[in-house]
Parts: sequence; C-alpha cells; structure tokens
Amino acid sequence: MTNVETTGATGLGEIEVGAARINVDDKRMINARADVNQLLPMKYTWAWEKYLAGCNNHWMPTEVAMQADIALWKSKDGLTEDERQMLKRNLGFFATAESLVANNIVLAVYRQITNPECRQYLLRQAFEEAVHTHTFQYICESLGLVEGELFNMYREVPSISEKDAWALKYTQNLENPDFETGTPEADTAFLRDLVAFYVIFEGMWFYTGFAQILSLGRRNKMVGIAEQYQYILRDESIHLNFGIDCINQIKIENPHLWTPEFQEEVRGMLKDACELEVNYARDTMPRGMLGLSAQLCEQYMHFITDRRAQQIGLAPIFGETENPFPWMSEAMDLKKEKNFFETRVIEYQSGGALDWD
Ligand SMILES: [Fe+2]
Ligand SMILES: [Fe+2]
Repeated sequence: MTNVETTGATGLGEIEVGAARINVDDKRMINARADVNQLLPMKYTWAWEKYLAGCNNHWMPTEVAMQADIALWKSKDGLTEDERQMLKRNLGFFATAESLVANNIVLAVYRQITNPECRQYLLRQAFEEAVHTHTFQYICESLGLVEGELFNMYREVPSISEKDAWALKYTQNLENPDFETGTPEADTAFLRDLVAFYVIFEGMWFYTGFAQILSLGRRNKMVGIAEQYQYILRDESIHLNFGIDCINQIKIENPHLWTPEFQEEVRGMLKDACELEVNYARDTMPRGMLGLSAQLCEQYMHFITDRRAQQIGLAPIFGETENPFPWMSEAMDLKKEKNFFETRVIEYQSGGALDWD
C-alpha cells in the first residue's frame, strides 16, 4: 500500500496509524511512496556514510589561532596590494556564498528530497554551512575588516554578483510554496537546482578561491585562514560528492528525465558557469601572484569543469587534461599533508574513501 497521500513526501501529513510497514524498495530519492520519517530500513548507504564522514570531520573556526594572520595583515609590507585585494574579494565571495548554499539546502533541496537518509545528511550539511559562515565572521572580526564591505561584495562587485544571481534563480524556481515534484518538468527543475548548487556552486566556484588561499598558505602567509580553508575544502568535497551521488541516483530511478536535450542544457550550464568563474579569477587577480594567474585559473577551471561533467556522466566540454595545480589534490588530503601549514593537526577518519579533486 502507498502512504504518500497521508504522511506524504514532506513528512508532515497525517500519521497513518496501523499502515503497512515500509518496504526498503519503496524508498526513492524523489516522489517516494515510503514514509520519509523512517530512517530504517536504510536504502542509500552512501548518504549515511557521508553523514558519518561529516561528523568525523567536525571542526570550529575558533579552534584555529589567528595571531600570525593578524600580525601579517597589520604589518605594512606583510602582503602586497594585489594580495590584499585578492584576499578581500575572496573572503567577500565566500562570506555570502555560504548563506546562499545554506538557503538552497533548507528552503529547496530538503523539501523535495523524499528520503530520510539523504535528509539526515542535508541536516549535517546545513550545520556545516553555518560553521563556514561563522568562519568568515571570525576572520572579519580577527583581522578587523570592514564588515559592510565584506558582506556587501555580492551586491557591489560584479564578478561576484553575477555568479550569485546566476545560481539564485535555481533556488527561486523551487522556493514557490506551490512547487512540487511529480511531473517531468518539476523533476527536471529540481535536477537543475542540484546541478547549479552541488556541481557548479560548491564543485566549481569554490575552487579558484581555494587555490588562491592555499597558495598564500603554501608561502607561509595567512596560515590561519589557509588552515580554515582546508577544513572548508574537506567539507565541501563531501558536499560535492553527495550532490553527485544524488543526481546520479535520481537519473537511475528516473531515466526519462535525462534526455539528450537536458544533457545538452546541463553542458551549457557548466560552460556558462565556467565563464563566470574565469571572469571572477580575472577580477580578483588582474596580475599574476603567488604562482597563480587568471590564465592558469582558466585552465584549472576547464579541467575541473570537465571532471564535473564526467562525474555526472557527460562528455568533456573543454578536453582539458592537464591540471595546472596538481598540489591542490595534495592540499585536499589532510591525512597525507597533516603538517601542510605546520599548524594544529586534526586527524580525520574517512576522507581517504572520497574521490578528491
Ligand atoms: Fe560551505
Ligand atoms: Fe557546501
């Protein structure tokens, strides 16, 4: 028997007293018939494993000492003007980006995913996004940055606003209280939102920023912030992999949604998003610095875009096979590189099982 009409896809419907016990095979990513309030029996162990990995990676920004960063930021020639400008824009992008991602999880994705083990991970992810937003509050306070400047960049710096406005429309499509999955059009709109946020926002747009800050850290500059970014990157790698697993599982369960036309549309989304990211790299680094340049970042973004395309089963877009920043993969593996910045070590347990890049 079905119970979608009662307990419903949201989990807020009337409780169906005495209904048949749920069958694991009735569990679905979207449009499930099984009660979404019952974690067990579990179907998607990949979602549960990511929930456990996220819990094992727990960290707080305030655990990271900021003295060295504060001294460097306040010293007259600690950083070049270009480095200061890049750092401020980088922080400005992330400071509000974390909120946009959190809004999308809580106001859009959580409502539409009809599976409790995935919802369990989403609750963990939502908290991690709060920790990330906290990080930018903590950095702002530690360095004595102008908070109005940092938190308004997404309204004042075009290369940041353009990315955020591009993504926001996908949340807006789903936020309408009347929106519900169950038709091919609505299910496709939901898939578009997952691509926009997991594959593009968290899987592509964070990566220029990570490369910039980790390049500072590799030169022993702003080591506290670099350490915090490593923890954020570790969290984000799991967010990305969760999103990719969700998309691929929805495709398996709903092959009719993955039409050649929709695949072309998604490739177009990836291409546009890559262009926005390259603009952001040019804007934050008009001149080369720290072994980085807008041109190398463009090559890196082509490489990352192709990797993301491949992860959701699409052919490469740029055919870029060379990663100009091979050290990024190493920087992501905290276990291997635990003395990367020679700061405090937090061992984690489950990252080794992830597919880093
Ligand atoms: Fe985040
Ligand atoms: Fe995230």
